[in-house]
Amino acid sequence: MAQTNYTKFEPGQLWLDNNGVHINAHGGGFLFHDGTYYWFGEHKISGKLGNKAMVGVHAYSSKDLYNWKDEGIALSMSNDPKSKLIKGCILERPKVIYNKKIKKFVMWFHHELKDQGYSAALTGVAVSDNVTGPYIYQDSFRLHGGILPLNFTKQQFDKAEIIENDSDPNKKQKVIDGAYFKRDFETGQMSRDMTLFVDEDGTAYHITASEENQTLLISKLSDDYLSVTDDYIRAFPGGRNEAPAVFKKDDKYYMFTSGLTGWKPNPAKLSVSDSMLGNWKSLGNPCIGTDEEKAVTFWSQSTYVLPVEGRNNSFIFIADRWRPENAIDGRYIWLPIQFENNIPVLKWVSSWGLSVFKN
Ligand code: DGJ
Repeated sequence: MAQTNYTKFEPGQLWLDNNGVHINAHGGGFLFHDGTYYWFGEHKISGKLGNKAMVGVHAYSSKDLYNWKDEGIALSMSNDPKSKLIKGCILERPKVIYNKKIKKFVMWFHHELKDQGYSAALTGVAVSDNVTGPYIYQDSFRLHGGILPLNFTKQQFDKAEIIENDSDPNKKQKVIDGAYFKRDFETGQMSRDMTLFVDEDGTAYHITASEENQTLLISKLSDDYLSVTDDYIRAFPGGRNEAPAVFKKDDKYYMFTSGLTGWKPNPAKLSVSDSMLGNWKSLGNPCIGTDEEKAVTFWSQSTYVLPVEGRNNSFIFIADRWRPENAIDGRYIWLPIQFENNIPVLKWVSSWGLSVFKN
């Protein structure tokens, strides 16, 4: 068995689990529960087929964040052709949160139907009594059909113009003004790259790339975390954000996102707000480094920000270095979030440990 007694993070290197196998949990989400960290992510197989969901969501556990134990497949793809979750569909960016009220673990994920590319644009839910599963698939759906966001008036909605022709010279402005939103109003809004964020008071939010990836939607979840409420906002209309990852520090909410270039990396973006359903403001590119590093976010795309338990103001930026030609070989980029003038920044560190966090 290969060495698995890690004492540091080495972003971009192979990262072996307790069985000596490269961790297979891409687009990951993390949960700290009863003294243990859990990592859930897309289980990829080798080759291009690995970009489809052939196996399911893989879970790992760790006490120290360096060494991860394989906990098996938490949510399995179905062999039943009648199931939306059939093997060969697309399942991305699974995130798990624990609901104290119903005492269940709730997983949300980006779900695309088999053989339909990325056109379905659904968000899916699965539930389990045990943290590592098995998770039972509930359903996948679009969001907020027939419901206006908190920050978009009926008057704005009425004025929005649907784009009839893709070469419309006013397309960009029309998208900002709600063209795709209006198009999808009755059937429900699209949901692609997504994440979840649980606030200190237990309120949970679903954050997703909607409106053909042009606009983010931030939605408050129901008390049981199984559905979205009608409280939601459009954020950065026309801003073209993917890969949202949210954290909170000193009563401010921060969100990393990426731009839209498929599996290829692009410049990260950071934004801040005083509340999740408030007014998000852009802080620009959080990366400090060479022009190339800034242009490609250290060759990665955000997926999660993990607060380190027991330490103040200690957050890990977690991202994927995708390998779409051989999906299983995708790498994990973990970097400590540093603060300069109280603004989060990212710098490349090829080897580091939790001792970088001073608190
Ligand atoms: C970028 C997204 O962030 C990924 O999760 C995945 O959907 C790829 N696009 C597919 O091209």
